[in-house]
Amino acid sequence: GDVAVLVPAAGAGVRLGPGRPKALRPLAGEPLLVHAVRRLAAAPSVHTIVVAAPAAEVAAVRALLAPVAPVTVVPGGAERQASVAVALAAVPAGPEIVLVHDAARALTPPELVESVAAAVRAGHDAVIPVLPVVDTVKEVGADEVVLGTVDRSALRAVQTPQGFRRAVLTAAHAAAGDPLTDDAGLVEKQGVPVRCVPGSEYALKITRPFDLALAEHLLATGG
Ligand code: CTP
Ligand code: MG
Repeated sequence: GDVAVLVPAAGAGVRLGPGRPKALRPLAGEPLLVHAVRRLAAAPSVHTIVVAAPAAEVAAVRALLAPVAPVTVVPGGAERQASVAVALAAVPAGPEIVLVHDAARALTPPELVESVAAAVRAGHDAVIPVLPVVDTVKEVGADEVVLGTVDRSALRAVQTPQGFRRAVLTAAHAAAGDPLTDDAGLVEKQGVPVRCVPGSEYALKITRPFDLALAEHLLATGG
């Protein structure tokens, strides 16, 4: 494999409700992070995995993942972007393709990891998996009055893993300002074209209790 994957997993999971950090919450009896790392390790291109864990859980996460796959675990930061930056700095010399993948997208199939890596290998400096937006989208003012309807056909919902030529991601993080919610956003600010590839419904981000229930159902029915 020629690919390193950074796994931001240091978030609290506030929107999931009270409990342990989200990456450590159980899904079908195993932590979300275990599901995510197992699927990453099953992708043939993946050579190196670096996990950014909650600072208080670094030793626990090392022990948890040791039987799953060889991983490096580092303490994450206060924002997702900081967690990715710390993980990126821990990638050893070698891999020239770097993917960034949310632990919260625990059911992402290895095939999606391969398709993103393949698009970078084929010459795209930055690659994101996307899905069409299914709902009508409106812009709404502070008073909850509609300002207008957005042209949905030009919109995409963005997932991870996002893939980058290593030097492109490193330069984007070195130049980063205010925290953004994805890494492609940093690369866009550098003027680098970002290529879209088809995403997967299984790569949903487990964010709210409904998403966790859906993930449980998908696993129980062979997803
Ligand atoms: N993440 C991280 N470091 C942070 C914040 C988030 O590594 N300081 C990670 C999360 O662990 C998650 C991914 O970034 O895998 C996407 O973030 P999100 O879904 O927002 O997770 P949380 O921040 O944990 O959830 P919430 O925003 O509801 O607290
Ligand atoms: Mg968050």
